Amino acid sequence: MRILAIETSCDETAVAVIEGHDERSITLLSSVISSQVELHAQYGGVVPQLASREHVRNIRHVFESALEKAGVKDFEKEIDAMVVTYGPGLGPALLIGITFAKTLAWKYRKPLVPVNHMDGHIHSNWLEPEQPLIDVFPSLNVVVSGGHTELVLMLDHEAYEMLGETHDDAVGEAFDKAARLLGLGYPGGPAISKLATKGDPTKYALPRPMLQAPNYDFSYSGLKTAVLYLIRDLGYAGKEIPDQIKADIAASFQEAAIDVIVQKAKRAAQDRGVRTIMLSGGVSANTLLRERLRSLSEQLGIRYACPKMVYTTDNAAMIAAAGYFKYLKDMKSSWDWSSVSMHPNLALPQC
Ligand code: KG4
Ligand code: ZN
Repeated sequence: MRILAIETSCDETAVAVIEGHDERSITLLSSVISSQVELHAQYGGVVPQLASREHVRNIRHVFESALEKAGVKDFEKEIDAMVVTYGPGLGPALLIGITFAKTLAWKYRKPLVPVNHMDGHIHSNWLEPEQPLIDVFPSLNVVVSGGHTELVLMLDHEAYEMLGETHDDAVGEAFDKAARLLGLGYPGGPAISKLATKGDPTKYALPRPMLQAPNYDFSYSGLKTAVLYLIRDLGYAGKEIPDQIKADIAASFQEAAIDVIVQKAKRAAQDRGVRTIMLSGGVSANTLLRERLRSLSEQLGIRYACPKMVYTTDNAAMIAAAGYFKYLKDMKSSWDWSSVSMHPNLALPQC
């Protein structure tokens, strides 16, 4: 079956078409993304109303381009179902994709499956995987983005158990804030990880918040503050920081931020006896995190999955994949477009 998915939860307008064959394989027919990152960079973060306005401007073109790239000539005959992100995300941004999807679903009388954005990130692992993802459950999902830092047990598609999450900032947010303190651009994650390759990760001892806490939770606001104090104590508050010191701070920050995730993931994977460790979310683009979790999985003798680099950032292909499995699980549902509405604070479906 062919599925068309729409994603507008943040600053990327994205449409994708996939072909679902069976439980095991998905073929990606097209994935088109129009990014607004340059527009928001000048404000140091995403401005919801601007994101919404850009989605309105871009969505029709992105939609038509996705159909063309997938070779779809007759929407009504060739598309079997639609999928749309309905949360979590920025309300004004989500609304554009949802309204566009509902209009199409109404016009062409297609089922419309609402998908959780984080469920989408998790399903980026099903797009062109290194090895087919068969017999992977239960898996420990490390879900890390600009808004989320979660350890989630995945028992099946659409069946999650939240093990732990951040009490304050998300890890991606901490990367963005630390980058701002170092005078690097937005988004900060890619800038910090690039600079960190030139720095010494052992140069500055930064805190590992909540590492010893007997749970799977995180806290990143203290780490950001520690970077602020370090810059002040080194005498560079409000001044230009020399390049090597900047690189050493970036590397030390990254080491601390990732160390906590890996150690807590290790504890959770052992406690819950999982078969797989699975990484997802925008921060899954971080090479150090990818490598550390790969070695952890090898050390524990379990499987490892991380999304291909191109699918780590927001895209509609991952939303389509999540929607496909949701549809397979509940084919009896009518998936009526009129019951789809936005949920900016939506949590993963718990079992
Ligand atoms: O999932 P995503 O695209 O958007 C949200 O749903 O938040 O994640 C974006 C986040 C940003 O905070 C960005 O700085 C972070 O992912 N990020 C990274 C890297 N690439 C993106 N963080 C660390 N290292 C990276 N290489
Ligand atoms: Zn995202």
